[in-house]
Amino acid sequence: MLTKKTHFPLLAVLVFVAGSFTPLSLFAQEHRSPVAPREEKFKAVVNEAFEKFKNDTRGKNADYIPYLAQVDSKLFGIAAVTTDNRIYAIGDVDYSFSIQSISKVFTLALAMQELGAEEVFQKVGSEPTGRPFNSVVAVVDMPTHTGNPFVNAGAIATTSLISGKDAQGKWEKILAFYGKAAGEKLTLIEDVYKSEAATNAGNKALSMLLAKYDRIYADPLESVDIYTKQCSVGVTAKQLARMGAMLANNGINPATGEQVIRTEDIPHVLAAMTMAGLYDGSGGWAWRVGLPAKSGVGGGILAVAPGKGAIAVFAPPLDEAGNSVKAQEVINYVADQLDINLYSPGSVGLK
Ligand code: DON
Repeated sequence: MLTKKTHFPLLAVLVFVAGSFTPLSLFAQEHRSPVAPREEKFKAVVNEAFEKFKNDTRGKNADYIPYLAQVDSKLFGIAAVTTDNRIYAIGDVDYSFSIQSISKVFTLALAMQELGAEEVFQKVGSEPTGRPFNSVVAVVDMPTHTGNPFVNAGAIATTSLISGKDAQGKWEKILAFYGKAAGEKLTLIEDVYKSEAATNAGNKALSMLLAKYDRIYADPLESVDIYTKQCSVGVTAKQLARMGAMLANNGINPATGEQVIRTEDIPHVLAAMTMAGLYDGSGGWAWRVGLPAKSGVGGGILAVAPGKGAIAVFAPPLDEAGNSVKAQEVINYVADQLDINLYSPGSVGLK
């Protein structure tokens, strides 16, 4: 049997032998995802997309949250992170914007971690509403009332599922979870929060309506307040792309190696993104682009190519459904050029 004394020389020999035959570069190559796009190719395609769409002025900033109306409409950044943690970014990728509805993806994942996917499905649902993201009519009409975790009503219900000692404890848990997803600490943009909290009578009404149907699981107004905070978390395009790369990488953050979301929950998260990530633009998005994605009225869209990586685009002007116009164009272009549409035979090597 090996004693402590004999360990050291044996280890030293092993390290030396391994070191002489396995240079670091080879080690890195061996750990590359076999399906992540090659670096030169995705850099070139992201650059092309930036040039192609940088002068597109269509769309309009969200203005129902006063802060968002004042954000510079010309800001434009693209960041892509592969599952082997290579990053490529161009434009305004260090500007911190509010995550808005993209937060719903991560609160859903946290809720599944706490309650299990089936209970969340029973309590929130997962069907398209065919209505705008803040629709009252959908809450009345949908058999589940909550609809799905990405429309405001379903998202507020999902937030209400998160446990904690008190409202502050629940909020801190959510914020810490988003930080783990990004691989670094995230913070609240106070001015966005104040602006939205002063103008969110619609969301408060949705929460009270959910209470009438017994489809909210904590105090309605407390839940809206935590939800408003989660929407006001600041992210850069780079941070958002890392959060997406974690989703693409079976829930393991490729930057930190930490398992943030359980592997078994990832397909549910991506399915919800496919079904309702761009609200009533989701069907057209699946038809054209074929990648699970989530938009936010702050101007961000995050798209995930499972096993390969993620792309986050920030450009504030939105279309009628509340989705960034330039971000949709960029992701559509990149997905097409890299042939990463999930439903394309080429994306699984069948061409
Ligand atoms: O509750 C709201 O209306 C916003 N905090 C979030 C909405 C949103 O991002 C919709 N996205 N496209």
